[in-house]
Amino acid sequence: MIARISPRSDQTHGTTFQEPSGKEVVHFTEVYKDFPDGDDIIRALSPTSFSLHSGEFISIVGPSGSGKSTLLTIMGGLQKPTGGSVRLDGMDLSSLSSKQLAQLRFSSIGFVLQSSSLVPFLTLEEHLKLRSRYAHEAYNARKARSLMKELGIERIRDKHPAELSGGERQRAAICVALFGNPALILADEPTASLDTPRALAVSDIFFQAARREKTCVVMVTHDERLLGECDRVFTIEDGHTEETGFPRNHAKSRDRPAAANG
Ligand SMILES: Nc1ncnc2c1ncn2[C@@H]1O[C@H](COP(=O)(O)OP(=O)(O)OP(=O)(O)O)[C@@H](O)[C@H]1O
Ligand SMILES: [Mg+2]
Repeated sequence: MIARISPRSDQTHGTTFQEPSGKEVVHFTEVYKDFPDGDDIIRALSPTSFSLHSGEFISIVGPSGSGKSTLLTIMGGLQKPTGGSVRLDGMDLSSLSSKQLAQLRFSSIGFVLQSSSLVPFLTLEEHLKLRSRYAHEAYNARKARSLMKELGIERIRDKHPAELSGGERQRAAICVALFGNPALILADEPTASLDTPRALAVSDIFFQAARREKTCVVMVTHDERLLGECDRVFTIEDGHTEETGFPRNHAKSRDRPAAANG
């Protein structure tokens, strides 16, 4: 099934919002993914087409095994689709060498993956410093501190991933992903190990990143309480992606003034 593309209407308020002023960050055209399974083929993702823009906070929901991580990792250029084309920040991923792809990933995407995206032998602050060094930027200690404070992880600044709880590791990965102000954040179940207040805080930080930094944030989640912060909701079932909007009783908790006003 093909995901609905713009123009879209807000299902909560019954009004049509103007398309976000943001530029297109992700464009999928008939993207699909098959995996071999003995003599058979598993279609993990059926052909899907959609665009995502800067300043949008998008969530992807669906049962286990439905294809959410497959969609996210294809979006981030971590695996190739079997067919169709993916454009990221204006670049056709299939036209890039693996080095160019790695550079694009580094400069444009912040990943928070289901498997840890942290380097075992680096502390949290070393992750941030390394990021700055590779980007040829001075390390902004103030920004790092403020981000750690927002995420409630100042105490773990000098700790290695193995010394952290699951929830702290998740928040550290979110901190690293946000620190580089990427055009796109891809977060796979980023709040799975967090209690409700922490999960809502993370969702709020993503919302602010979308509004303030014009980041396009894509978050896979099972947690329906977080959907109220999102602008768009996609549902995947058996590999079929559809832009479904908000489930009943999970209306948007926020309006979208910042998207319209910049
Ligand atoms: N590398 C792979 N090789 C073979 N099959 C795979 C591979 N990766 C995923 N699959 C299959 O593709 C389907 C979708 O997997 P995916 O990881 O995208 O699901 P998911 O929605 O992220 O699930 P979960 O909520 O459990 O994380 C599943 O049937 C899975 O077994
Ligand atoms: Mg998954």
